[in-house]
Amino acid sequence: MAYTIAFFGTKPYDESSFNDKNKEFGFEIRYYKGHLNKNNVLLTQGVDAVCIFVNDVADAEVIRVMAANGVKLLALRCAGFNNVDLNAAAAGITVVRVPAYSPYAVAEYTVALMLSLNRKIPRASWRTKDGNFSLHGLMGFDMHGKTAGIIGTGKIAKILIHILKGFGMNVLAYDLYPDYNFARQEQIVYTSLDELYHNSDIISLHCPLTEETKYLINDYSISKMKDGVMIINTGRGQLIHTNALIEGLKNKKIGSAGLDVYEEESEYFYEDQSDRIIDDDVLARLLSFNNVIVTSHQAFFTHEAMENIAATTLQNIKDFINHKPLLNEVKK
Ligand code: NAI
Repeated sequence: MAYTIAFFGTKPYDESSFNDKNKEFGFEIRYYKGHLNKNNVLLTQGVDAVCIFVNDVADAEVIRVMAANGVKLLALRCAGFNNVDLNAAAAGITVVRVPAYSPYAVAEYTVALMLSLNRKIPRASWRTKDGNFSLHGLMGFDMHGKTAGIIGTGKIAKILIHILKGFGMNVLAYDLYPDYNFARQEQIVYTSLDELYHNSDIISLHCPLTEETKYLINDYSISKMKDGVMIINTGRGQLIHTNALIEGLKNKKIGSAGLDVYEEESEYFYEDQSDRIIDDDVLARLLSFNNVIVTSHQAFFTHEAMENIAATTLQNIKDFINHKPLLNEVKK
């Protein structure tokens, strides 16, 4: 009998990339649109493995039912695992994940946000569709010669920095673990956070969300920044205290913001909410600024990244079945 996997929280694009890749693996896949939770976990009866994404819930109760149903493997098709109770899973379910999908996708998207905000392309496009060809309010600045401050210099930020150096920008970087070889090679400078805040025209966040980085961007850090600074966040929503950002935008300390992530995003992101009144006043205020771009956690979303997600997830499952070492196992 074919090895059976129940996928939760799937969209048509997930089915398409997994169906393509599964031709090489031959698993039996059952797709469910709903997010895994305690109400639908009974759908895991008779399946060998369960595959979930960022907004599915694998808490202790869900894991207990899955284990009782005979599920042996929980395969995350994402990097983060904050939605999984690893203590509960340790009692009998192995957890694997996809640690990186495509750093190029996120780095290139970050540049797209910078250029869209700087040159006001969304506003210009709305105008011309409405027959308005005026340039009033659309003036940007040359990226060449400006300073980008990059916080966290891992896989994504290194690619971003290479692109920004191509524009002729100066780069200031901050990381808990600076990579001085990389700095020499790209001719960038590691500085303190204070210096980075003080001197950067654009600040972009690429560190993980930890106790230490939660609300890194707050009233105090914003007060140290250059007037008119552009802030870009493709990291995690809680890196920014959103009310502090809104204050900064209102008093014009912050010139613009590009946000692919938002601290309360799970209520809204990835779903069509256009028929609903937005009851999150903070999100509604953010959406009201003409110098803010909010997108729905889509920086990763390229063909290449989706293919990598499918390939890594199905290979993780195959390795588990074949008792091979699990390179991407998540342990408590
Ligand atoms: P990475 O692990 O390669 O790099 C993270 C870097 O942050 C490391 O160099 C690390 O030393 C540094 N770091 C850790 N703690 C720090 C601190 N307190 N202050 C400064 N730097 C610190 O991660 P990668 O792949 O570059 O991803 C970065 C972040 O991007 C992820 O943590 C994730 O939150 C986000 N992401 C967003 C996606 C999207 O679609 N918007 C997709 C994938 C990742």
